[in-house]
Amino acid sequence: MIKIVEPVFSEEEKEAVVEIIESHQITRGRWTERFNGKFADYVGVKHSFTVCSGTVALFIALKALGVDRGKKVIVPAMSFMATIDAVYLACGEPVVVDVDEYYTLDLNQLEDAVKRYSPSVVIPVHLYGGMADVEGLKFLSDKYGFYVLEDAAQSHGASLKGKKSGSWGHIGAFSFYASKNVPMGEGGALTTNDDNLAEEIKKWIDFGDHPAFNVRITEFQAAIGSIQLKHLEERNERRREIAKTYTQAFKDKFITPLERENSKHVYHIYTLRHKDRDRIIEKLRESGVDARVYYPYLLHELRGAESMPTPNADRFKREVFSIPVHPYLSEAQVRFIIDKLLEYLPE
Ligand SMILES: Cc1ncc(COP(=O)(O)O)c(C=O)c1O
Repeated sequence: MIKIVEPVFSEEEKEAVVEIIESHQITRGRWTERFNGKFADYVGVKHSFTVCSGTVALFIALKALGVDRGKKVIVPAMSFMATIDAVYLACGEPVVVDVDEYYTLDLNQLEDAVKRYSPSVVIPVHLYGGMADVEGLKFLSDKYGFYVLEDAAQSHGASLKGKKSGSWGHIGAFSFYASKNVPMGEGGALTTNDDNLAEEIKKWIDFGDHPAFNVRITEFQAAIGSIQLKHLEERNERRREIAKTYTQAFKDKFITPLERENSKHVYHIYTLRHKDRDRIIEKLRESGVDARVYYPYLLHELRGAESMPTPNADRFKREVFSIPVHPYLSEAQVRFIIDKLLEYLPE
């Protein structure tokens, strides 16, 4: 099976893991500290705080932004469930808004939703590795006074006008789950430029101020993340190259992913649309290509949340499917996937 995601490690990670064991410093050490410094520099922010998962990063971010009972938080209809679950866990009230043709928050509808619900936070998700319109969102945030929390779990290294995901909002939340563009196994991070928010975030990480979970990562995770981060740019470029080849091959037969103007998409996931997608997925899987639907649900349907009308997401949910795009695919595998997909296309 050509896997849809596949993290790859080198001797470098092995050596680091052995070094950590021999040092006996397996948590709260220099790898974690180094990773936070490197990640903040990479994203282009003052502060980075690692935590044990992306879901926890979203939860802590919402708490740091003051979410509690009665506070509304806007999320897009299409995302992984953690985006909306974090809102419930923080005791907020989610409101779901439709997505645009980039699979990210539809800003036209968002403005109506903001007027109606007065949210305290809006969460744009850079779904599949493509940037949401965070510039437009920043304008609305200044106008209406809500916070922007970027869900950058799928967008390490993606940028808009040269500014990276995780540096546009008041806080950025990342995941380093095994399948992500920077994998640690499990892990997450919060990024921010705001010193006061950094202090609020710390209260959820270092015990003391109020009851909190232990959300730390180990030195092993930090070391793996640090080494993966060094290779991120070249691996994202390879993802972009494969995506370009796919889009060239599929553009007349499928609805191919769009890249927002002046943005860099990092193709965490390569997603096509076709009315016959269930049959196509079945055929691809029979021939050994892992194809999947990200995600087979909309967030408001999944959790029974309040929602604006979602005509785009309703249609996309029935048509989207994703094929492997990880940077370790060989040219022959890319060709094989293209050939099989075109072969199985219903006339
Ligand atoms: C968009 C999105 N948000 C949040 C998360 C949650 O991250 P984690 O699995 O590390 O908790 C993920 C990934 O799993 C995700 O894809």
